[in-house]
Amino acid sequence: MKVSVKVPATSANLGPGFDCLGLALPIYNTVTIEETVLPGTGIEINMISEEEETPIDEMIFDNIPKDENNIVYKAVEMLYNSIGQEPAELKINIQSQIPITRGLGSSAAVIVGGLMAANKLLGSPADETALLSIATEVEGHPDNVAPAILGGFVLASQEEDGTITYKKLNWPSEWDITVCIPDFELSTNIARSVLPETVPIKDAVYNAKHLAMLIAAVETKDEKLMKSALHDKLHQPYRAKLVPGMEEIMEAFKHEEGILGTVLSGAGPSMLVISHNYDLDNIKSKVREIWEGQSIKTDIRTLKVEPNGAEFV
Ligand code: HSE
Repeated sequence: MKVSVKVPATSANLGPGFDCLGLALPIYNTVTIEETVLPGTGIEINMISEEEETPIDEMIFDNIPKDENNIVYKAVEMLYNSIGQEPAELKINIQSQIPITRGLGSSAAVIVGGLMAANKLLGSPADETALLSIATEVEGHPDNVAPAILGGFVLASQEEDGTITYKKLNWPSEWDITVCIPDFELSTNIARSVLPETVPIKDAVYNAKHLAMLIAAVETKDEKLMKSALHDKLHQPYRAKLVPGMEEIMEAFKHEEGILGTVLSGAGPSMLVISHNYDLDNIKSKVREIWEGQSIKTDIRTLKVEPNGAEFV
């Protein structure tokens, strides 16, 4: 038996929602899992890049483990173990359209795809919450895996006892998201390693206020409040040194009518410009000018939030 799951890209954090907010985007990875019939064949993992604009760098591709250390296999193994079984001989194929190591949830997509496919092969013993919980365990935070499973714009939190609390919210469909993808990679591990262990209370309070504003702004489609909300002091300031041009891009749109905010996508290096009734070509040319001025090639796409999460194909 063979099961395929198509999973959307995701952008986490949205500025102040560090490790708890994320939205799905219409770029997809498809994971196919096949239980092979021949015993002793072990696991086989293949990955095909279908990404034309930002193709997977061959070196990165070669460095992705193709054995039991692969994150898809780890997630699948946890699911099998949760019902007291060991994974069978598996063949895992990944068709990848989501640019890798760019802050667009490529790892969350393959984890979710692998888990949903394996769950179906097992007769669906795990429900959505259980899958989300395993996916978060493997990924380390729920803000990409939750919208990858559910679609749309999602608030998700891993509680201290490990359980996941999550809620899908209503992203205003008229708000455009311009995804700006530079041609350099930044691994989440490196982007997390520059964050401090502790932060000043005033910075924690700053983020709590802005996250509350963001949720209220989205739910009431309040653009003025959204513009005040999209600011962060917990991760973006520390990551700026890893993303050349980030501060200039943020500065370029700060006082523009129609721009609701500019944030790092997940751990970066991609950036999101959120706008309404703003000249999208102007966003593209400004971002291009800044990045290409630093010899950084760009792939810029204006997208709508993908309302659907992972689905069987
Ligand atoms: N919330 C995570 C981070 C997202 O910012 O490190 C990583 O994709």
